[in-house]
Amino acid sequence: MKILATGGAGYIGSHTVVELQQAGHDVVVIDNLSNSNEKSLKRVAEITEKEVPFYKIDIRDKDKLLQLCSEHHFDCCIHFAGLKAVGESVAKPVEYYENNISGTLILVDVLRQCGCKNIIFSSSATVYGDPVEIPITEKCPKGQCTNPYGWTKSMIEQMLIDMQKADPEWNVVLLRYFNPIGAHKSGKIGENPNGIPNNLMPYITQVAVGKRPELNVFGNDYDTPDGTGVRDYIHVVDLAQGHVKALKAVQNKCGVAIYNLATGHGYSVLDVVQAFEKVNGVKIPYSIKPRRAGDIAKCYADATKAKMEIDWEAQYDLEDMCRDAWNWQKNNPNGYE
Ligand code: NAD
Ligand code: WQD
Repeated sequence: MKILATGGAGYIGSHTVVELQQAGHDVVVIDNLSNSNEKSLKRVAEITEKEVPFYKIDIRDKDKLLQLCSEHHFDCCIHFAGLKAVGESVAKPVEYYENNISGTLILVDVLRQCGCKNIIFSSSATVYGDPVEIPITEKCPKGQCTNPYGWTKSMIEQMLIDMQKADPEWNVVLLRYFNPIGAHKSGKIGENPNGIPNNLMPYITQVAVGKRPELNVFGNDYDTPDGTGVRDYIHVVDLAQGHVKALKAVQNKCGVAIYNLATGHGYSVLDVVQAFEKVNGVKIPYSIKPRRAGDIAKCYADATKAKMEIDWEAQYDLEDMCRDAWNWQKNNPNGYE
């Protein structure tokens, strides 16, 4: 298929482009590079031995998007582009709603004008809020998000569902990612956060590489086996392969399809620290700090729907995730710089 990947230079996008190219798809990437570096796509090309056509385009730039989409006849859009920092979204809600929501509205308008009515959207487990059931199935109702970023995901999901209802020619796949970590096993591409990492794994790898003195563990008084927060970490390469499988749903004219992309296993912060130390032989000093605002105790999925319907299942375990995250970080201590 011919695929438009918005935000394809970013962390999840770049890993997905590898898997798409290796599965024989033609991919064109657009990205405004607000949170990424074009070098990621050069590295993708080194892995796949196939160039990645790239255009520096903002999804809010309707004219450029129209020009691109009328030149290329895309079969499907995989829509990764968006701002994703939870804390920043609390400080800059207007910018987040504008970028993520207005951007998506412009994108889908252009896609339909150009006859591409298939979209796979990067949603998030955050739409479940504090989940009413654990493990979380796709039937679990959406909840109250604790930040504007989360609301953009929840609102975009609803927009896309309404759009498909009004025009059943659309096929919309909503992929709810749990906690993507790790990197491609080549060590050529990986997560490259700006400034102090917000998320657990990039923080751990920066402690391991000596950039940060120790990990702050946000709370050890949750109702979990060791008191620290439990999450469903998923290897980014598994996640990337989930997008290749999701194309099947589009080809089968799914209408709207929603899938959790997760392993189904919950691990605590200290489980992750211990797995990282064990598999990499590096010590991660840490200290216990107060809970972080907006965090929930437990979040892990039931991922059987994706297995049953699109034949996707995570292959990699927590040790693989820790090994590959460290391989990327130690080979690229300053990311793509
Ligand atoms: P990322 O920041 O690495 O990638 C997003 C890309 O979108 C970046 O390259 C950025 O430059 C680009 N972008 C942002 N706004 C744009 C715009 N207006 N026009 C064009 N490009 C724009 O983030 P990621 O971790 O790869 O996440 C990809 C998607 O998955 C995002 O939508 C994110 O919200 C979602 N998601 C991520 C996680 C996670 O933990 N990483 C979890 C759930 C969902
Ligand atoms: C994981 C666990 C923290 C950092 C976020 C977004 C979510 C989604 C994925 C995009 C928690 C603890 C973390 C640290 C810590 N993103 N932690 N010290 O919060 O589950 O999800 O990323 O959609 O929307 O909210 O991921 O990696 O930040 O935290 O103790 O320095 O690690 O408290 O228990 P989270 P995370």
